[in-house]
Amino acid sequence: MRIDVLTLFPEMVRAPLETSMMRKARERGAVRLFIHNLRDWAEGKHHVTDDRPFGGGPGMVLKPEPIFRAVDDLLGPGGARRRGPGVEFILLAPQGRTLTQAVAADLARRHWLVLLCGHYEGVDERVRQALVTDEISIGDYVLTGGELAALVLIDAVVRLLPGVLAEGAAEQDSFSSGLLEGPQYTRPRVYRGMEVPPILLSGDHGAIARWRRQQALLRTLERRPDLLERVPLTPDDRRFLEEVRARRPGRPRPPGDG
Ligand code: ADE
Repeated sequence: MRIDVLTLFPEMVRAPLETSMMRKARERGAVRLFIHNLRDWAEGKHHVTDDRPFGGGPGMVLKPEPIFRAVDDLLGPGGARRRGPGVEFILLAPQGRTLTQAVAADLARRHWLVLLCGHYEGVDERVRQALVTDEISIGDYVLTGGELAALVLIDAVVRLLPGVLAEGAAEQDSFSSGLLEGPQYTRPRVYRGMEVPPILLSGDHGAIARWRRQQALLRTLERRPDLLERVPLTPDDRRFLEEVRARRPGRPRPPGDG
């Protein structure tokens, strides 16, 4: 996969993409990442990239010209729309569809993503009209710019690419099964009086798998009961959840839950 990031603040995205798993993913050739300064496509002595909004109002708007020129250079005239289904030109903005594990998995199947980090009050609408093929938000809150959102998207997508994580690790994720991940332990067996659940030391792989599934169900029931309505549950899962619910009548709901 190739990913290009268009930003006014390249220094904001550089270090995280040169660290830890993103660095490894690049070294292993799973992804090629390029960071571009939009200012390089701005004209005039001052390389201006923003201007006041027509009609008045607070803040500044990203001008269309540097963005169109950048896309012409990177993707050719017509941009991602011309290049076809494996290519996306994605605007990071709070108005976009929300990034989820399913969206990340879908994007991980493309071969080229160009990410535009919005800034200030927004981006000239003609960029959306003519260039953008997808618009993504990382949540219902407003950041000062799209850079942190681009990093979140890149991390969520790149870790799913073949060869980045250990075999099977992505399948174990929270959300991949539709459930939250349950507790994990490592050595020592007893720490400050807290013991590792004995079943994990039993060597009985069937029993361990059942326990893990039940812990994932429990955690999801406690923290994100909405997810349980969307996951395919086995008859064993349903039986287990019924038992748990029966054992805990009138349990107070966590704050913020419905
Ligand atoms: N830019 C500003 N806020 C954002 C958000 N929540 N997601 C993506 N890009 C953004």
